[in-house]
Amino acid sequence: MHMRTIKERIHWIGAVDWDRRLFDALIPLPDGTTYNAYLIEGSERTALLDTVDPPLAEPWLARIAEVPKIDYIVSHHAEQDHSGTIGRVLEHFPQAKVITSPKAKSMLMDLLRIPDDAIVTVADGETLSLGDKTLKFIHTPWVHWPETMVSYLEEDRILFSCDFFGSHIASGDLYVKDQCRVYEAAKRYFAEIMMPFKSTIAKNMEKLKGYEIRMIAPSHGQIYDQPAWIMDAYREWVGAPPHNLVVLPYVSMHGSTQQMVDHLIAALADRDVRVEPFNLVVTDIGKLAISLVDAATIVVGTPTVLAGPHPLAAYGAFLANALRPKALFLSIIGSYGWGGKTVETLAGMIPNLKVEVLDPVLCKGQPTPEAFAALDHLADTIAAKHKGLGLL
Ligand code: FEO
Repeated sequence: MHMRTIKERIHWIGAVDWDRRLFDALIPLPDGTTYNAYLIEGSERTALLDTVDPPLAEPWLARIAEVPKIDYIVSHHAEQDHSGTIGRVLEHFPQAKVITSPKAKSMLMDLLRIPDDAIVTVADGETLSLGDKTLKFIHTPWVHWPETMVSYLEEDRILFSCDFFGSHIASGDLYVKDQCRVYEAAKRYFAEIMMPFKSTIAKNMEKLKGYEIRMIAPSHGQIYDQPAWIMDAYREWVGAPPHNLVVLPYVSMHGSTQQMVDHLIAALADRDVRVEPFNLVVTDIGKLAISLVDAATIVVGTPTVLAGPHPLAAYGAFLANALRPKALFLSIIGSYGWGGKTVETLAGMIPNLKVEVLDPVLCKGQPTPEAFAALDHLADTIAAKHKGLGLL
């Protein structure tokens, strides 16, 4: 993709990764992604904001080599998809200084072996003059690493936010065209990497309140030329109460747990509780993560295998524990053949979840009328808990 001008002397100079389908060997990218770098040409100095993932370095560096000069390389975040090509840019522009937060400095040195004397650290709120354009650096930790910061271009009111507000969508569009599509992708991204740090993200949102932001230029996805809606969405994700929603990750081996899941889904629907089931054999874990952003209750459905939860259910519980969603209630349902410690094992895997555990429903073999009645009772309890809190 060619360099594209956002405003006079402010350019997108990124790379589009159309075919990438997995990030960190973990996170599904159904729509690919972009690595957005930006070039700001001030009247006196030029700054490059972030770089691109090293696998896409070659065609990108050919464009960088055509830039007349780069005085500064701003590194908002030390993760390699944005910082990994800094060393290669320094080969073209050896006099350039890498501008980053103090915490990022040691990370850039450790992860990329950027030399100490090439790096200049900036404090929270510090500014950098490019002549007629001024970058202000705002430290926004834990988006989603401890060193992250954003830049605010004061004269043009543009926030360069790196992962913050980003979305994984490969596209030829420079700006967000389809808000619904980007909403889901941005929520997926928030859920997968930022949700565990939502209280710090909320503080970062507060910090941005004092700035007039006309445009948000993230490092993944398209630029928000109408940024209010994505900022409102983030405020909701980090701060609003959970919804009247049950997320139900489950796995079934011979159909008994599936029967229990089906019964509970119907029972919850009868009680006007929304439910989103995820069969862990086939599910996209990003969809599960999105659902966890809003769910008030998590119910894990699992058979007992090898004397404990099915490994896929254990994986689902591990993920939910790591993502620290705002869920308030949790239960476990499933079938077993002769015994085991499914409930104890799963309960021990979720220390981060500050939830009230509702009575589990475990059934020996195929579900009996008593098991279905117990599932009805669980649905009654969930509906009453949600209603009691006024969840919508
Ligand atoms: Fe897009 Fe945390 O890197």
